[in-house]
Amino acid sequence: MKHGMIVAMNEDYSDYNTQLARFYPAHLDAVRQRHDHALDHAGASHAVIFSGSPRYVFLDDMAYAFKANAHFVSWAPLLKLPLSYIVYTPGEVPRLIYYQPRDYWHVVPGAPDGYWAGQFDIRIVHNIDEVAAHLPPDRERCILIGEINDPAHAFGIDRINPTTALNILHYGRGVKTDYEIACMRLSTQRAVLGHLAAVAAFRDGRAEFDIHRAYCEAVSLTDNELPYGNIIALNEHSAVLHYTDLDRQAPKQTLSFLIDAGAQVHGYAADITRTYAHKDARFAELIARMDELQLEVVRRVRAGVDYAALHIETHRLLGAVLVDAKLARGSAETLFETGVTAAFLPHGLGHLLGIQVHDVGGHMQGESGTIIDPPSGHPYLRLTRVLEENMTLTIEPGLYAIDMLLDNLRGSPAEDHILWDGVDWLRPFGGIRIEDNVRVLADGSENLTRDAFSAAA
Ligand code: GLY
Ligand code: MN
Ligand code: MN
Repeated sequence: MKHGMIVAMNEDYSDYNTQLARFYPAHLDAVRQRHDHALDHAGASHAVIFSGSPRYVFLDDMAYAFKANAHFVSWAPLLKLPLSYIVYTPGEVPRLIYYQPRDYWHVVPGAPDGYWAGQFDIRIVHNIDEVAAHLPPDRERCILIGEINDPAHAFGIDRINPTTALNILHYGRGVKTDYEIACMRLSTQRAVLGHLAAVAAFRDGRAEFDIHRAYCEAVSLTDNELPYGNIIALNEHSAVLHYTDLDRQAPKQTLSFLIDAGAQVHGYAADITRTYAHKDARFAELIARMDELQLEVVRRVRAGVDYAALHIETHRLLGAVLVDAKLARGSAETLFETGVTAAFLPHGLGHLLGIQVHDVGGHMQGESGTIIDPPSGHPYLRLTRVLEENMTLTIEPGLYAIDMLLDNLRGSPAEDHILWDGVDWLRPFGGIRIEDNVRVLADGSENLTRDAFSAAA
């Protein structure tokens, strides 16, 4: 490192480092074993994992925010290290080719530091061409895992993202190590700080933009460091499932607030949603009913449960809520069969959570890549696996007034089951979603989100 160059600090992670250090060696063992298995099936000797390259706006010299390859992050919490490589050969200490350019325009990665650093044979390179000398010479025995936009970054490795290996890695990532769960407990605690600041700003009558800023300040993350774009929705905006506009003006009358906002620690995401009523007692009562429903679904989570079946059970529970809330009439079964519940709840019950918010492997039946399709009529369900101990996932039922979907039911047998006056009442409030992050246990679950809210209270 040249004297005087500005280098990045490892964010504000010193406290996290202390908490995570003891879990990391066992995590690394699990990652190694996964790669041993993948290499074995792919018939290769070395896995080369590329962190990724910066991407530029068309005809521009502005780069998009860098997002590291999740496979790279699964080895070490190196979120801001473009053009770097991990080289893994079974039985050998993994090598980290650490790209530290000589660049006075940008902050460059600092000296490798942290609980992870001692586990790697680190080779610092200042120029991308220097990478070649640190890669295994038998390139035909390598597989490369990562997004290669410039063929020069493959350094002659032909086997890029072979399906056999990716399937094994993706399926394996569905079950988390103690280290990963510890990261997610911390990211959940971090997100809860943001949620508390945001709801205070909502109670103050602030605009969506101000609520968002209060959130970012409390979690100490920039927009680019958040695991996904915050959904900060007042009133009818809550019915837009991925609403990410941020109104600068507060509405004339505030009725409701839906916040779906997360955080990350060492690259592991939290993904939390809460909904609040401003004053309206009927809407507050409906939120309370959805909260009971959500907790009932969480109570059903345990190893061995078929998540797709749990999604369908949720729709039957929702049918009863719709009747009690005077939004629909008929039996829960009829409301499910005629598509009424799907019109009010058009997204999946949840998804695997990890380095990726919608983590990989949610539809995989096994490591060979066989897919379990979502149930018919429920195409957006992202998790169809049978639950295993230490999977980490979301449970996020919702209920919305989405005219586009409800109007589709006019002229069908569902039309008479919808209480359109009720829909007119709900519309200005938008909708409700309650989302927790849950770790599957052999005989139940750990609710990371509820635990973090209780601890913060
Ligand atoms: N925040 C995106 C989701 O809940 O899946
Ligand atoms: Mn989610
Ligand atoms: Mn969410």
